[in-house]
Amino acid sequence: MSKPTQSVIITGTGSYTPANVVTNDDMAKIVDTSDEWIRTRSGIHERCFAAQDETTSDMAIAAAEKAITAAGIDRRDIDLIIVATMTPDMPFPSTACILQSKLGLGNITAFDIQAACSGFIYALNTGCNMLRSGAYKKALIIGAEKMSSILDFEDRATCVLFGDAASAIILEASDSVEVGVLGSITGSDGSDPSLLYQPAGGSTIPSSHESIDARQHFIKMNGKEIFKQAVRVMGQVSNDILDQYSFKPEQVDLVIPHQANMRIIDSLAKRMRLPMEKFHNNLDRFGNTSAASVGLALDEAYRKDRIQSGDLILIVAFGAGLTWGASLIKWQ
Ligand code: UT7
Repeated sequence: MSKPTQSVIITGTGSYTPANVVTNDDMAKIVDTSDEWIRTRSGIHERCFAAQDETTSDMAIAAAEKAITAAGIDRRDIDLIIVATMTPDMPFPSTACILQSKLGLGNITAFDIQAACSGFIYALNTGCNMLRSGAYKKALIIGAEKMSSILDFEDRATCVLFGDAASAIILEASDSVEVGVLGSITGSDGSDPSLLYQPAGGSTIPSSHESIDARQHFIKMNGKEIFKQAVRVMGQVSNDILDQYSFKPEQVDLVIPHQANMRIIDSLAKRMRLPMEKFHNNLDRFGNTSAASVGLALDEAYRKDRIQSGDLILIVAFGAGLTWGASLIKWQ
């Protein structure tokens, strides 16, 4: 029988963004918008869109390869893959299974999680708990989205906000008690799915000529309401997890927030009474990459030496569902 483990540490990070960089001026050639509107209302300057034949799993593989290299592990030791995505390669099989094969891994446990923009934290938390049980030793956790595949390029209120990307981490069971992923909080409120959703393509409205003509396979969002909820919930869940582990906000060395809107992040900083220097942001260059977002910012922060051994890192996200989550990490 395998023994429950003391802790779980992140031993490698990786990310990938497509080569095709699309500026706000480029978007203004597609819909009635402007660089000025997008910058001031969201903080986004540009985003990356995948090539037509580039899939979510292609991006995920590129991020995974970097995380595996960074962790310095033999990939054959990975015994669990969890992919967080709402834009899988196809409704089924899971993108995680496609990845298992493309990465040349053994017949390990592989599955997808769908928690929209909170997906990375849901996957991280699930992976940690599976490792803590003692049944798994090394997990590959991915957030990957080809958001451009579900954007309505006739809806200026949504298509300018999102981008494509993948991010990955390797989680390993460890006997250390001082460092690692201290814990996570996740939550949901499914009372009004229409706040942010893709109406068709599931069992409610199966794909049909009519659903396509009605543009129901694209993202629909009540931006104002989502904005309000994001500010409130991200502030609440951040304070809750800090309370749970008896930390004060000022003890956090770096916050990695979901990259949806700079004004949401500003409000979060105010609610937590923390200066913006404590936040790592990259939405100006990548927009909202949904489940890839916090992993993409985490990888960048680590590679830019913004994370040092012993640092206390708070990751927090919010998205469709509604879903939310926060993780506290004492960096090894
Ligand atoms: O990942 C989690 C989910 N996503 C989010 O967290 C996003 C949350 N929401 C937001 O970030 C903001 O609500 C938006 C950036 C989406 C919109 O900002 P806003 O300040 O709430 O703008 P609005 O929706 O109230 O629109 C203001 C105006 C409207 O015109 P009128 O009615 O005042 O004449 C819109 O039609 O801006 C117009 N508008 C645009 N104008 C130029 C909406 N989109 C655009 C656009 N370019 N792309």
